Amino acid sequence: MNNFNYYVPTKIWFGNGQISHLAELSESGKRVLLVYGGGSIKKLGIYDEAMAILGGAGLEVFEMGGVEPNPRVEKAREGIELCRANDIDMLLAIGGGSVIDTAKSIAAGVCYDGDVWDLIEDSSKIRAAKPVYTVLTLSATGSEMNKNAVLSDLGRGKKASMSSDLLKPKMSICDPTYTFTVSRRQTAAGTADMISHTFENYFSPIRDSYLSSRFSEAILKTCIKYGPVALAEPDNYEARANLMWASTNAINGIAKVGAEVGWCCHPIEHELSAYYDVTHGEGLAIIIPRWMRHILSEATAWKLAEYGRNVWDLAGDDMAVAEAAIAKTEEFFFDVLGLPRTLGEVGIGDEKIDLMAANAAPSLKNAFVPLDKDDVAEILRACL
Ligand code: NZQ
Ligand code: ZN
Repeated sequence: MNNFNYYVPTKIWFGNGQISHLAELSESGKRVLLVYGGGSIKKLGIYDEAMAILGGAGLEVFEMGGVEPNPRVEKAREGIELCRANDIDMLLAIGGGSVIDTAKSIAAGVCYDGDVWDLIEDSSKIRAAKPVYTVLTLSATGSEMNKNAVLSDLGRGKKASMSSDLLKPKMSICDPTYTFTVSRRQTAAGTADMISHTFENYFSPIRDSYLSSRFSEAILKTCIKYGPVALAEPDNYEARANLMWASTNAINGIAKVGAEVGWCCHPIEHELSAYYDVTHGEGLAIIIPRWMRHILSEATAWKLAEYGRNVWDLAGDDMAVAEAAIAKTEEFFFDVLGLPRTLGEVGIGDEKIDLMAANAAPSLKNAFVPLDKDDVAEILRACL
């Protein structure tokens, strides 16, 4: 088990009705920039509810809506200008990962004397950030309790993250009832995303971080049990609540401590999103089983077999269980969750595969199985 530091300063208010705790924003000052997306929070009534509570707590609210999925750096720049013009004390993100990541980028960018994209190129430049509060409306990214913010610059064909403890939200409200309206497609994609966050650290060469592996398996089993329930019954509180807490824990650090390893499928998927604007969880679902097949060998079968035995209750020798576990993963993503099976189904051909592979490869040197650009190109071609 490796040495580690575990630091999560985010206060979570979990459950139905916890939005009343928004009044606690007054601890950070008076002037709030509310960040949201394309309008779902207005349809759902969360906007009105939040405005009433914030007003009641004496807070002055400025707002920036219109954050798009796969959020753009231009929107973060707009928010930074708004903060500077209005002397904003704190950010409040109400939405999914795209909205939260935009708010985090603004929080850091407003304290930085330069362009916000610099903080993506070099996160050590993040020396300060305004406090970030969130109300989560979609279970997927775990941004409500982690240190990352992912932005896209479509002009440069880049999607990448900044990362700093200073970006960890001060408080997040996680009310599962807010996710009842999340579409089938986003529910399935979100479930694949949380599974992928878990896999990124579960598939680690460190063999003795027993507790982290068991945490990970519990998260995976939760996704496998409740993902289909949420698809069949969107307003099933038990399913939405378990998925919400699974998504947060999949990437708040608890499941990786002692076994941390370089990520693999995410850097590859970010290339797809950067060039083709695909839904993050859909891209991951397409890549993951092909990645598993690519890295399966006598040297790695032990871990895939551990996954097969402990998550899917499979029995047999390591190689047989590993292969069956990959088949189970495919069946779950494509047949049970109904996610797209090939890159062709999300509008991606082979024209940029070598370029995307070359871009992703430098991030994959410390992965469970280090990959070079030829490996990535082979994985992506298997996804076509
Ligand atoms: O824009 P609105 O109107 O809010 O609609 C959104 C959006 O169209 C909708 N939605 C959200 N909550 C809803 C709802 N619709 C109905 N009812 C609700 N309660 O869902 C759509 C997708 O929203 P988005 O925020 O884009 O989804 P998600 O939470 O999956 O975030 C994806 C982004 O996060 C990044 C991804 O790369 C992608 O850019 N990631 C961030 C991470 C992090 N910060 O740690 C890690 C992840 O690996 C990921 O890379
Ligand atoms: Zn993800």
